[in-house]
Amino acid sequence: ELLAPRENLFQGQHILITAGPTREAIDPVRYLSNHSSGKMGYALAEQAQRLGAKVTLVSGPTQLPVPTGVDCVQVESAEQMLNAVQQAVSASSVFIACAAVADYRLANVAEQKMKKSQATMQLQLVRNPDILATIAARPDAPLCIGFAAETQDVAHYAQDKLTRKKLAMIAANDVSDQGIGFNSDENAMQLFWHDAAGQLQQRDLPRASKGHIAAQILRQIKELPSS
Ligand code: CTP
Ligand code: CA
Repeated sequence: ELLAPRENLFQGQHILITAGPTREAIDPVRYLSNHSSGKMGYALAEQAQRLGAKVTLVSGPTQLPVPTGVDCVQVESAEQMLNAVQQAVSASSVFIACAAVADYRLANVAEQKMKKSQATMQLQLVRNPDILATIAARPDAPLCIGFAAETQDVAHYAQDKLTRKKLAMIAANDVSDQGIGFNSDENAMQLFWHDAAGQLQQRDLPRASKGHIAAQILRQIKELPSS
């Protein structure tokens, strides 16, 4: 909406984006998931495509239409999302991990619908692979961009993820802030990256539509020292 349609910032580049939640099966009729709508990731896919990139969107279950011209791979679980990302990553120069990946999955998925019995029950969970950290650790890693939705100490946790996951940039937001974030059409973000001298840099993107935020994130990616 705020970009000249003919801008060709990413002409000839392939951008890989994850979006939406993942679903981790409990039994054939139940799952663990989260409130991610996928709107931010889909907005990034749409804007990247408008800026001339070839876009592959690996998406968990959402209610959203796939943006025109975007190649979309639909997945459910974190493991499926990792597989789809690994299939597409070698062709990509930029990887943007916008998905709200479930941190854990069931240790054992019941083959049949579980029946209720006791008054309490326990589910055993095991850690899911970290898709972004896995990709960023590859010798042929593309430029890796992370997101961090936090409810407290946003800058602290975001900077920790930037360094620990070896990212080129992280986009952080405070999801405790009412009216923005997960299911909203608007967002406000803080971007963190390291400049060519290794100094931490920060840019605040004030509250705006997710399309506008997406366009600003993509412009900043283009400005990164490693870009
Ligand atoms: N991410 C990922 N795979 C996972 C978990 C997270 O690719 N299994 C990515 C997200 O898409 C996001 C970034 O890592 O870009 C940070 O996700 P977040 O949930 O904020 O961080 P975690 O490392 O999972 O830490 P925690 O949930 O404990 O804050
Ligand atoms: Ca997490």
